Amino acid sequence: MQYQNILLQQSDRVAVLTINRPEKRNALNQATRDEILHALDHLQQSDSRVLVVTGAGGKAFIAGADIGEFEGRTALTQREVMKQRRIFDAVEEFPKPVIAMINGFCLGGGMEFALACDIRIAADSAKLGQPEINLGIIPGGGGTQRLTRLVGEGKAMELILTGDLIDGNEAKAIGLVNDAVPIDQLQTRVMALAAKLAEKSPIALRMAKEAVKTASRANLREGLDRETDLFCLAFSSEDKVEGVRAFFEKRKPDYKGR
Ligand code: COA
Repeated sequence: MQYQNILLQQSDRVAVLTINRPEKRNALNQATRDEILHALDHLQQSDSRVLVVTGAGGKAFIAGADIGEFEGRTALTQREVMKQRRIFDAVEEFPKPVIAMINGFCLGGGMEFALACDIRIAADSAKLGQPEINLGIIPGGGGTQRLTRLVGEGKAMELILTGDLIDGNEAKAIGLVNDAVPIDQLQTRVMALAAKLAEKSPIALRMAKEAVKTASRANLREGLDRETDLFCLAFSSEDKVEGVRAFFEKRKPDYKGR
């Protein structure tokens, strides 16, 4: 598929998906969301082991849903749109680690997209927030739920009720992003992290992601049982044999993802 709104690059087991509507601050319109879903399906089958998502143009990661699509839209039409397969769920269910490289405005649906990723690294100059309240609406891409689980009710409530934006350093201080670095170090930081993950067993990464995600969906007993199942499933892989053998042979494991 020829993409119009995203760029897809693959190298060294790391894929980079860049939202490419810089003139609209990478706002997510329907066409862009469709392309993201298509790219995720494609990448699921590809050799890449880690996915990095970011925004083009140097100003924005993603400045939210495309507000142009809200104008004149009825509640029923909006409901139909939101009942379709959604990028937030798709990235959360994606079986490989996803790192959000937050290089500028990360707002509304953009923040919600980042929240659905597994690890977030921001430029310290980035601006993050849920400004929907300023449009007379509320977050609708999981923000009220995923943000609250990540930073706690007090901080989530403050961000969502005020619509205020915070910078990367503040986002790091409240646990919203894993790290904040100067913009000129952002790509190096993210690519080093992606390369580190790409050396692990893809099967173990997948099991680990699924197990951690269960923590916010299930009660403790269910979560612990799921962890046990996934642990045992990882035991069935060739990568487990390779990992244990490499430990005793005092060498780096070479994981094949089988
Ligand atoms: N949806 C649609 N268009 C958007 C957009 C969005 N979420 N965010 C930015 N744009 C468009 C602007 O309308 C403008 O288009 P134009 O050149 O045709 O007028 C273009 O992108 C550049 O935006 P501009 O506001 O001039 O850039 P800026 O760098 O001064 O400010 C933002 C950037 C992100 C702070 C500002 O555009 C903004 O507040 N956007 C809306 C964010 C928001 O409320 N998101 C939640 C949506 S639910």
